[in-house]
Amino acid sequence: MLTTIILCLCIATIMNAGNSTSTKSTTTANLSSEHALSPLHLVIDEELNKIATSCITHPDHERLSGYILKWRLARLFNFLLIEEADAIIGLEELRAALGFAPSGSWKNFRITNKAELISITNLQEYFELTVATENRSLDSEYFYEKNLAPVIDFLDKRFPTIRQIFKQKFEESLCVNGGTNSINKKVVDDMIHEFRTIRGKVNSAMSEMNSRTNECEWARKHRNN
Ligand SMILES: *[C@@H]1O[C@H](CO)[C@@H](O)[C@H](O)[C@H]1NC(C)=O
Ligand SMILES: *[C@@H]1O[C@H](CO)[C@@H](O)[C@H](O)[C@H]1NC(C)=O
Ligand SMILES: *[C@@H]1O[C@H](CO)[C@@H](O)[C@H](O)[C@H]1NC(C)=O
Repeated sequence: MLTTIILCLCIATIMNAGNSTSTKSTTTANLSSEHALSPLHLVIDEELNKIATSCITHPDHERLSGYILKWRLARLFNFLLIEEADAIIGLEELRAALGFAPSGSWKNFRITNKAELISITNLQEYFELTVATENRSLDSEYFYEKNLAPVIDFLDKRFPTIRQIFKQKFEESLCVNGGTNSINKKVVDDMIHEFRTIRGKVNSAMSEMNSRTNECEWARKHRNN
């Protein structure tokens, strides 16, 4: 409840920024409902549930593979790509929230040691080294960077809420952390933690959807007949 109040005041403050005559109205905001302040505000658990109960059909999987694979193989391959694409979408939104530049193309991967992380003063550099993983590098044993682009595109079109969930959560956390003017390593760490938590939830929703493929196919065939 306390978080909700802080959050609402936070959002209300952002919305009224620069208007000193309206500061009074922020305290009378409807604190019982986050929606009252912003019509675009998603109820995240509901949105995750919508993802978990939707379908990627066999023809979708074949299309997503560029018709190189039939659905059984495409599905296995696509699912690994989808999990990685979710992370890329989240990290794009996280960089945007923190005011960082896009990361650019994949580079070689190397493990960064703790002492090195402590000595870095540039916050984006610190961020990039902290979130770096072999899977999103030229040393990936699974993916070429070019494999991910069509999947990110597919997710943005079919499940635009994934990007919106990340964006909303990051804006909220950042606001609670004191806004974009007070970013330091601690805030960056907290935001990365937030990213990992949401990524886990999005991937669980995706796994749940994937486990219902037979059900989806049955429904699709019966609709078509
Ligand atoms: C500032 O707040 C007042 C009072 O709530 C409102 O009438 C006015 O439109 C606001 N101005 C801007 C620029 O938001
Ligand atoms: C606050 O929002 C809730 C939920 O949308 C609504 O039921 C309630 O009537 C609102 N209260 C006021 C004072 O606007
Ligand atoms: C890299 O991707 C593969 C395939 O999705 C996955 O099994 C593995 O856990 C990932 N490795 C890391 C470090 O995330």
